[in-house]
Amino acid sequence: EKVTLPKKQARKVAVIAHRGASGLAPENTLAAIRKALDTEADFIEVDVHQSKDGQVVVIHDATVDRTTNGTGAVANLTLAQLKELDAGSKHDSSFTGERIPTLAQVLKLVKGKKKLLIELKKGEDDYYQGLEDNTLRLIREHRADDWTVLQSFHDPILERIWAADFVIPTHKLIVGKIPFLPVYIDHELKFGGFDRYSKAASINVHRYFASKSFIRSLHNQGFKTFIWTEDKPQNIRELYDMGADGVMTNHPELVERR
Ligand code: G3P
Ligand code: CA
Repeated sequence: EKVTLPKKQARKVAVIAHRGASGLAPENTLAAIRKALDTEADFIEVDVHQSKDGQVVVIHDATVDRTTNGTGAVANLTLAQLKELDAGSKHDSSFTGERIPTLAQVLKLVKGKKKLLIELKKGEDDYYQGLEDNTLRLIREHRADDWTVLQSFHDPILERIWAADFVIPTHKLIVGKIPFLPVYIDHELKFGGFDRYSKAASINVHRYFASKSFIRSLHNQGFKTFIWTEDKPQNIRELYDMGADGVMTNHPELVERR
């Protein structure tokens, strides 16, 4: 079963390949990005951390344990050490030999063929020294500012990006409906507290918290919203019908436009 977006809706909404087309290939690898490039996705989402020697690398967790054959924190491993690890075989033996990519490799591969949504993560205990500046520098070097968007859960990361002398769209990721819990006012659920994110173009919300009224409330406050992460065709369709501006999915190949 596929999700076919009618023309009028299709033009307005975005499909985001989550961690690349990570349902088809190991997450956050060049293989997953190549698969995503072959779909109708508008954006490819990837996560970044920083190696011991200050290189921006594409991996979801702060440690290499879950997705590779190695162990340890990304922050304690050099790029050369990270490059020795196999980031493919845990997904499927046919991907053996797939490596943790650098952000530079990903920028080179995507090259504006689709938009890139880069999520800046923090380390196990600390923020990475210089991750924001290094990410912005790479975007500049690859002339990727027209087709790159940055997102983060972490306010200090977003604030460092907003303070930089470089304008790039940013999205704020929220857990639940924070920053403030919804409250009932006049028998209606009200949401607030997003003023401090006025520099963000979008507030990105977990699918569990998506509803028509919450999305409308975000729109009324001037934000777009991308909802993550939904793989069931019926649910993807419902999120678009609720008013989501984008849906992140591990299976972007399931969404097509007519
Ligand atoms: O882009 C939203 C989503 O990627 C955030 O959660 O854990 O998959 O990075 P996570
Ligand atoms: Ca992510």
